[in-house]
Parts: sequence; C-alpha cells; structure tokens
Amino acid sequence: MNTPPDRRTRGRTRAGRLAALDAWLLATERPLLEAPGEAPVVDVGFGAEPWTLLELATAVRSVNPSLAVVGVERDPGALRTAADPCAGAGVALREGGFDLNGLAPARLVRAMNVLRGYTGAEAEAAHALLGTGLAEGGLLVEGSASADGELCTAHLLRKVDGALRPEALWLATDFTRGFAPIQFRDWLPRDLRRSVKPGTAIHGFLGRWTAAWDATRAGLAPREAFRASAERLAASGEPLLRVENLLAAGQVAWRYAGG
Ligand SMILES: C[S@@+](CC[C@H](N)C(=O)[O-])C[C@H]1O[C@@H](n2cnc3c(N)ncnc32)[C@H](O)[C@@H]1O
Repeated sequence: MNTPPDRRTRGRTRAGRLAALDAWLLATERPLLEAPGEAPVVDVGFGAEPWTLLELATAVRSVNPSLAVVGVERDPGALRTAADPCAGAGVALREGGFDLNGLAPARLVRAMNVLRGYTGAEAEAAHALLGTGLAEGGLLVEGSASADGELCTAHLLRKVDGALRPEALWLATDFTRGFAPIQFRDWLPRDLRRSVKPGTAIHGFLGRWTAAWDATRAGLAPREAFRASAERLAASGEPLLRVENLLAAGQVAWRYAGG
C-alpha cells in the first residue's frame, strides 16, 4: 500500500460550505448517528476556521445531543483559532492526521477538501488509513467542494467486516451555477476526478446522466432539470439513491457496484 504523503493544503473554508452534506447525513444516517455509545463523529482537516466543524456538531447533535464530536487538524494555527469556539460548543480538538491520533473508533469520519493534490493511489491509501479509525459499520465521507459549496461530492465508504466498502458517491448542487451533470466532474473526489475517461464507471455514469438531462431539460429551470434527469436515470435502472426533499434541493447519491 502507498503511504499518503505529507501534502500541505491551505486551510481555506467557509461557513455553510458543507451544509448540504450535513443535511444528507442527517437524512440517511440517523441510525448511525442515534446509536448509543461513545463512538465519536470526527472531522479531519476542518480548516483555518472551525465553521464547518461547528456546523457538523450542531447537525449531528440535533438527533443525538450527547454525541462526542472531535476536530482533528495537523495545523497548530488552526487548532489555536478553533480552541475557544470549540470549547464553547463542547467540541474536542486533537492535533493529528489521518490516523486520528489514537481516538476511540469513530462512527463517522469526515475528511472534506483535504486530499487536493493527491494522486488516485495516494487518495486510496489515505482512505485506508482513515478507515482504520472507524468503528464497524461506521462511515467515511471523503470528498471535495467548490469554495462556497455550490457543487460538492463525496465518497461514502462503510466499514464492513473490518474493511472499507465503497457504498456510494454523493453529489450536490445548489443551482447557483445552473445545472448540467458534467459540472460535477471538477469537484469529484480526488481519485475519481483523475479517472473520468472513456471506459471508466464514473465516465459512463456522467455520460448516462447527461443523456437523461438532454432528453428532459427542454423548458425546465435547472432545479427541475436536475430532478427530471435524476428520475429518468433511476427509471432506466441506474442505482440512484434519492431522498424526496433533498432531491428537490439538488442532492442524489449513485450507488457503487456492490455498494
Ligand atoms: C481546504 S481545508 C478544508 C477545510 C474544511 N474541511 C472544508 O471542507 O471546508 C484543508 C485542511 O485540511 C488539513 N489537512 C490536510 N491534510 C491533513 C492531514 N493529513 N491531517 C489533518 N489535517 C490535514 C489542512 O491543514 C487544512 O486545514
């Protein structure tokens, strides 16, 4: 296995950038979030300001007020900046990296916008390392978002029988930039972004979605075109996970083969 390199990424983040992801997790992972026990929710690489970490804590505690939430960063400056607001919100902080620095096995590990600059193989190695910190049945969420979260995608990877199983690719748009399926290409998780080439599963998926969009979009606003194309795609047998109100909000997940 490749060892993830020590890549420096800038810590830029924005309030609300990952709000769509919080909404998806609340809608689809309630049993995981509500389960009793000590297993924490961990946000790795929360960035120069703890906005999205604090938002995640508020979201998951809306369904389980006693949940332990931990922010992990390797940047001491980010940890200093986050110290007071996180203490006030009951969110623990820990200096560390993808090995989660000895935390108890987590129910959810989120690592958003931390693998910029990694190759596909390096990203896979990072997934494997992040997965070692997950409890059985836990979820690893790793992906990318545009600066304000207008477009956002993430791998959903589940720990099953001690191994990470790719479950689905979650995709979200807020329609600020209109809508076309190909818009997601530049915001795919690192390993997928590099493999949008003829013959790959992700290339095929984006192509089929584009065909469904072309067939349905005439006269429709972006939001309606998103919905209509996703419905058409699902009707054709594509394994698309949809949650009614989140479909209207611009969110779907594409189940991976075997996921
Ligand atoms: C672009 S920011 C992302 C902030 C936030 N997660 C978001 O999506 O808006 C990336 C952060 O990841 C941190 N980071 C990168 N690699 C890391 C690693 N191996 N372990 C912990 N933090 C890491 C960086 O220090 C930086 O603060």
